[in-house]
Amino acid sequence: MSAPVVQIANLSRVFDVSKPWLERVIAREGRLKLNAVDGVSFEIRKGETFALVGESGSGKSTVAKMVVGLLGPSGGHVQFNGLQPGEKPRPGAIQMIFQDPYASLNPRWRVRDIIAEPMEAIGLRRDAALRAKRVDELLTLVGLSPRDGDKYPHQFSGGQRQRIAIARALSSEPSFIVCDEPTSALDVSVQAQILNLMRELQERLGLTYLFISHNLAVVRHMAHRIGVMYLGRLVEIQDSDALFDNPQHPYTRLLIDAVPNLSEIGRDRVPVQGEVPSPINPPSGCTFHPRCPLVMDICKRERPAFIDGVACHALSRKG
Ligand SMILES: Nc1ncnc2c1ncn2[C@@H]1O[C@H](COP(=O)(O)OP(=O)(O)O)[C@@H](O)[C@H]1O
Ligand SMILES: [Mg+2]
Repeated sequence: MSAPVVQIANLSRVFDVSKPWLERVIAREGRLKLNAVDGVSFEIRKGETFALVGESGSGKSTVAKMVVGLLGPSGGHVQFNGLQPGEKPRPGAIQMIFQDPYASLNPRWRVRDIIAEPMEAIGLRRDAALRAKRVDELLTLVGLSPRDGDKYPHQFSGGQRQRIAIARALSSEPSFIVCDEPTSALDVSVQAQILNLMRELQERLGLTYLFISHNLAVVRHMAHRIGVMYLGRLVEIQDSDALFDNPQHPYTRLLIDAVPNLSEIGRDRVPVQGEVPSPINPPSGCTFHPRCPLVMDICKRERPAFIDGVACHALSRKG
């Protein structure tokens, strides 16, 4: 088993969602805290794709932002191989790919300059001719043509723009890429092409991915291991095959049962029955207990420990 590229330990993030001070005073209300991420731990090994899956609002993007350092944790830490907890790797070593490539590509810049920018930012290939050659290589690598470098982002389709965003991410020669819903905005037919490109690139370049999606079929297609999130907590971590063949946590089972055909990537799952409670006032104990078919008394009182890849009182009792 290869060494972990990154270890995430007991990571938490609280947001202050209070009303403005004067309104609070008039209404005699206190501050409101939202636990977006609550004690999440996992590690990602070199060359693997670790996926986070869960319904909207479960805290996936907040974890992603803390892993890349866009957001500071309220508790816990992110530790990269060979560094101290919280210490940042060299600039450009970690990159992020977002759902909406248009937002991350400067519309006034030619594609060639967009792709060259991360290289310039970290002083890689200081010679302009070398940089230009590398941009051509990157365009080819992601299935575009060197001539596309002279165009602007709006001249491309959504899928092509995501290819440009990938080329840009690769430009600083990262070893680890965090992908947050990278194909969720794309048409069904295009999604699979981009996912396959990302898999090819992983193999060719030995990349490690943290891959985030609400779509189980997409996650199954991409991930070696999967963590399932519910209301800011991880409820289960398994190898991808094991998770789909033999889901343990009642929430994981609910999610998987809600998908009619897991081989159809483009198809979103049917929403799961029952509402997700608010993270501002989450249920006590195991936060899944109000929706859980296996609920017991202890579930309402105590937060379940994470044992053998799953956090569930009912399952740990059985063993
Ligand atoms: N900057 C913020 N301020 C306040 N609340 C936030 C902020 N960012 C995210 N949240 C809240 O944190 C929770 C988790 O959000 P997010 O990480 O975006 O979930 P996901 O990516 O799984 O949909 C949600 O309830 C969301 O409303
Ligand atoms: Mg998100």
